[in-house]
Amino acid sequence: NTVLVLNGPNLGRLGTRQPEVYGGTTHADLAEHLVETGRGMGLEVEVRQTDHEGEMIAWLHEAADTGAAVVLNAGAWTHYSYAVADAAALVSRYVEVHISNVHAREEFRSHSVLSAKASGIIIGCGVGGYDLALAHLAATGEASTA
Ligand code: DQA
Repeated sequence: NTVLVLNGPNLGRLGTRQPEVYGGTTHADLAEHLVETGRGMGLEVEVRQTDHEGEMIAWLHEAADTGAAVVLNAGAWTHYSYAVADAAALVSRYVEVHISNVHAREEFRSHSVLSAKASGIIIGCGVGGYDLALAHLAATGEASTA
């Protein structure tokens, strides 16, 4: 039961980037925590972050090929990247996560090109939203067809 947690642009700066919005947890701490949490749920979790759209698309293709489920925080790509949305649509299932409440912020953050094909969407729960996404994937079984 493999789950790829894929974080997009600027999320590598968690902990120092607008901590009032995104909290004080660093990406490294988040990654370590999610691997642990996943293990407790019987999931093999791998956490990655990229600022490069092509790399994100390649990881989504990888998940499509291996059958891994995905927890996807595409950062600002969420709002406009049809390329990331098309790649996400190829994976067996993905949960869209946003740390902040995107509906309480600038208007452009209210729209997501990823939501229509998502298995679930978790918004505004802080970094705890990733744990909720893993719990959802574990509870609904078959986190991976691999
Ligand atoms: C975000 C919200 C996006 O609008 C923003 O561009 C991000 C992070 C979130 O997790 O709240 O980079 O996806």
